[in-house]
Parts: sequence; C-alpha cells; structure tokens
Amino acid sequence: MSATSKQVAANGSLPAFCRPVYLDRVSSTNDEARRLAADGAPEYTLIVAREQSAGRGRRGRSWISPPGNLYCSMVLRPTSAPGPAAQLGFAAALALGDAIRGLGGRNTPVAYKWPNDVLLDGAKVAGILPETSGSSESVDWLVIGLGVNVLSAPGETSYAATSIKDWGLTQVGVEALLAAFVGGLAEWYERWQDEGFGPLRAAWKSHAHGLNSPIQVKLSENQVLSGRFVDLDLDGALVLDQGIEPYRRIHAGEIFSLGS
Ligand code: BTN
Repeated sequence: MSATSKQVAANGSLPAFCRPVYLDRVSSTNDEARRLAADGAPEYTLIVAREQSAGRGRRGRSWISPPGNLYCSMVLRPTSAPGPAAQLGFAAALALGDAIRGLGGRNTPVAYKWPNDVLLDGAKVAGILPETSGSSESVDWLVIGLGVNVLSAPGETSYAATSIKDWGLTQVGVEALLAAFVGGLAEWYERWQDEGFGPLRAAWKSHAHGLNSPIQVKLSENQVLSGRFVDLDLDGALVLDQGIEPYRRIHAGEIFSLGS
C-alpha cells in the first residue's frame, strides 16, 4: 500500500486499511491484541477501549486507565528480528507527536523521552508499550500499545504527568487523535520498511528530551547511571558519555531525570 493511500481521512475517521475492534472495558488492550495476533489477526488490527481494568505500563508498572483517555493497541507484522522491530516504538512516538502537533498547532511543545515516551511541555502525556512474539531471528507479531492522557493525568507518578486537556488543548478529542495517530504510524512504518531507522532517528532526535544534557538513566530499580546523553544510536540505543570511552550504549532502561 502506498504512503498516500494511508493518509488520514480529512474527517478524522480511521483509515480504511485499519481493522478496529472497539471495547467498552477490557483488562488491557495489549493483552487483547496479543491474543488476536496469536490467533492470526492481520496487520492493522487495532484494539481500542474506553477504559482498562488492568492497564500495563513498561517495567511492570500499572497504567491507570479511567474513561476519557486513549487506550489502544495495534498489531503489526514486520519482517524483521526483534531488535529492529523494537524501533517501531519510536515510530509510534513520532506518530503521536505529529498527531498532537497537527491538532494543537505546529508550535505545540511536544518532545520525545527515550525510549518511547511523549512529553507535552516537559511532562509525560503518553506512554508506549511495544511487545513482540517470535524467534530471535524473526518476529511473528508486534503489538504497540499506546496510552494517551487526553482528559486526565494520574496524580502520583515517578515522572511529572500532564494531559492534553490540562495543557489547554480542550478541543482535542480521542477519536481525532486516534485517527491521526493511526495514519501517522502507518506512514512511519512504511518509511521504516523502505528506508530503515535513519529517518525515524533523525525526526526523533530533532525533538529529543535531554539530548546533549546531563541525564540519569534507570536500568533497574537499584541501578542508575549518570552521564551526558550524546546520541541515539543507529539501532535506537541511548548513547551515554560517562567521561570514559567507549561511550556506554543502553538498550533497556528509561531516563528519569535531567541533571547529574
Ligand atoms: C509506559 O509505561 O509508559 C507505557 C504505557 C502504555 C500504556 C498503554 S494503554 C494501552 C495499552 N494497554 C496496556 O495495558 N498498556 C498500553
């Protein structure tokens, strides 16, 4: 399918290639998407729920999921190994960033926090949970879960959180945001298939939170590294300068604060 055939319809409805499944309440859209993917669901099967009773975040955290926010999970079937497939988490972040800017205006202060968070004016507005199944050589399916704080943000979080409404974009609705996200994800996915990670890496770096600054990265509950965030590597790893060479390349973890 060509990039143009994946444009979002002007009225904000989902593109025709997408196969949405709407649920009122589910434990986790990722769990539902994983189940359908394992049963052979085709690419662009999309699970959307009004609320989740057991929404999951990265690193075993829960994702509080009241009505009014966006919870969805997309099934993709990239022909790649799990490492490159994980780069599609960046595609999802870019697609959401584009969608928020498209609805809120070009100067809306969207930034990307490694690996896949989306920030609005410095606070987390969305999280992404990519999950794969397959062998070490080849992915069978990839589910990309997306949670966006549209109407409300959780109160007690380790990293400051905001919502699209709190930030002042009161007119942005879940449906329009979802349609723009799906269209954008399809375009970034196609670009990744045709050109590799390069264009995604460049776009992500142009709005990267903390790039060229001192940061702290949490590898696990009790392992935190400090250094300067010098680059996003060619494969999506965070490159950290700790004053000794070679620079450290981090594949799993999260930035939790700026400053050393
Ligand atoms: C993070 O920790 O930042 C990732 C959060 C991902 C939350 C979304 S909500 C829709 C999908 N279903 C889940 O259970 N999790 C993801």
